Amino acid sequence: MVKICCIGAGYVGGPTMAVIALKCPSVQVVVVDISIQRINAWNSDHLPIFEPGLDDVVKQCKGKNLFFSTEVEKHVSEADIVFVSVNTPTKTQGLGAGKAADLTYWESAARMIADVSKSDKIVVEKSTVPVKTAEAIEKILTHNSKGINFQILSNPEFLAEGTAIEDLFKPDRVLIGGRETPEGAKAVQALKDVYAHWVPEDRIICTNLWSAELSKLAANAFLAQRISSVNAMSALCEATGADVTQVSHAVGKDTRIGPKFLNASVGFGGSCFQKDILNLVYICDCNGLPEVANYWKQVIKVNDYQKTRFVNRIVSSMFNTVSGKKVAVLGFAFKKDTGDTRETPAIDVCKGLIGDKAKLSIYDPQVSEEQIQRDLSMKKFDWDHPTHLQPMSPTAVKALQVVWDAYEATKDAHAVAIMTEWDEFKTLDYQRIYDNMQKPAFLFDGRNIVDVEKLRKIGFIVYSIGKPLDQWLKDMPAVA
Ligand code: NAD
Ligand code: UDX
Repeated sequence: MVKICCIGAGYVGGPTMAVIALKCPSVQVVVVDISIQRINAWNSDHLPIFEPGLDDVVKQCKGKNLFFSTEVEKHVSEADIVFVSVNTPTKTQGLGAGKAADLTYWESAARMIADVSKSDKIVVEKSTVPVKTAEAIEKILTHNSKGINFQILSNPEFLAEGTAIEDLFKPDRVLIGGRETPEGAKAVQALKDVYAHWVPEDRIICTNLWSAELSKLAANAFLAQRISSVNAMSALCEATGADVTQVSHAVGKDTRIGPKFLNASVGFGGSCFQKDILNLVYICDCNGLPEVANYWKQVIKVNDYQKTRFVNRIVSSMFNTVSGKKVAVLGFAFKKDTGDTRETPAIDVCKGLIGDKAKLSIYDPQVSEEQIQRDLSMKKFDWDHPTHLQPMSPTAVKALQVVWDAYEATKDAHAVAIMTEWDEFKTLDYQRIYDNMQKPAFLFDGRNIVDVEKLRKIGFIVYSIGKPLDQWLKDMPAVA
């Protein structure tokens, strides 16, 4: 029986290993983590992450061929294949702060693998890492190996949160990078055999190590670039009377461009896009390619501009002040169908509104009050100018309300700001919401999910990203 151990029971390690266990009954999978709390949650009925379909997959294999444990060293030493799926955040201190990937967790995992291994192993990079990380990992492992043979593979993960199980069941592709040596080819084949249980062979791409590592950064950069492109267009649409949804539709009909990932929004969030582009920018700089670095940096700058623009639009439309006004924030997660709030645009928008002294009432079906308070009190790392920005004061954090119902959040509010495209926000009773709000009642849709005309007929003053402005908004121009 092939034994797999995955280090890191997070958003990637957990779902990925659960699907491998489900699809490969003959493989034993153990997911290990240093976080006792996380492992306890995986071993309970309340999984640590919300992901549609995940509960079902975990239920089918937990205790059979899928296990979660804090005995990291024991399970690593017993495994044939070790996936490393630890976090690789942006460095906040020292050389490369604000851009480079922080590989502290990765390095400590690699040293531990070298320490505890008593048999040959395939070590798989599942985390997103800078190009050439495999070389560094190889050095750590071989210099400490005591004669054991380690083969390093790069097998980046392309799942998106909210659709992780679907993505893992039917991946567009599985990418495996390995050394171009007989031992490297053997290791690639061993990992290919695991995926071949359910992924068609023509979807498993094998490359050299560096192409696999770089392809992951490139894919995320291309995806984020599409969003910044359409978001940049949304600003021009508002200035000209064009409708960004119509422009996206027309542009996406070109089969060379395609219709996906062209939804204008208040900005992209999530733990990957910004981090991976900053990492790419750093790698370009380090390789003496400042023009290429600046090109990709612009994708993040437009994303920041979009969030600022949204806050400014809210404030300027409401007579240039939101001081003391109640703003209902609908949605806090970075996208629908997840409870993840990492880099969610809601954090910057809420901080911007609180900066103008708004009183916030926040509702998200999957994000707890503790999480929201943690996010808003956390020091924000400014990627462009590595300084720590002031967090919100404890009094300001306490002053905001987190409620468990959209109607409660919007009661007596001066404005509603939609931050996440949860399906339930599309079907709310907006007449009821309008009736219970202060007048004039404003609605700012950061996700283009409401029917603008219908809401204007109810009486709302509606702003929806990239949609033609009504007279009120035209009369109160936002300064970006
Ligand atoms: P995460 O923070 O949810 O999980 C990482 C886990 O690793 C944590 O539970 C942490 O406790 C554990 N860990 C850290 N060091 C450890 C060690 N030495 N030993 C044991 N456990 C350790 O992160 P994530 O979202 O799952 O991302 C993991 C990697 O996958 C990152 O490199 C990320 O860029 C990449 N990725 C993420 C996504 C996504 O949608 N979240 C998608 C594709 C790729
Ligand atoms: C992303 C990549 O899609 C995935 O392949 C990679 O493995 C991890 O990073 P994720 O961040 O989980 O996945 O979600 P994604 O669906 O890509 O959305 C990222 C952000 O972009 C969200 O805030 C989303 O709301 C936003 N977005 C997405 C838009 O604003 N417009 C779009 O058209 C698509």
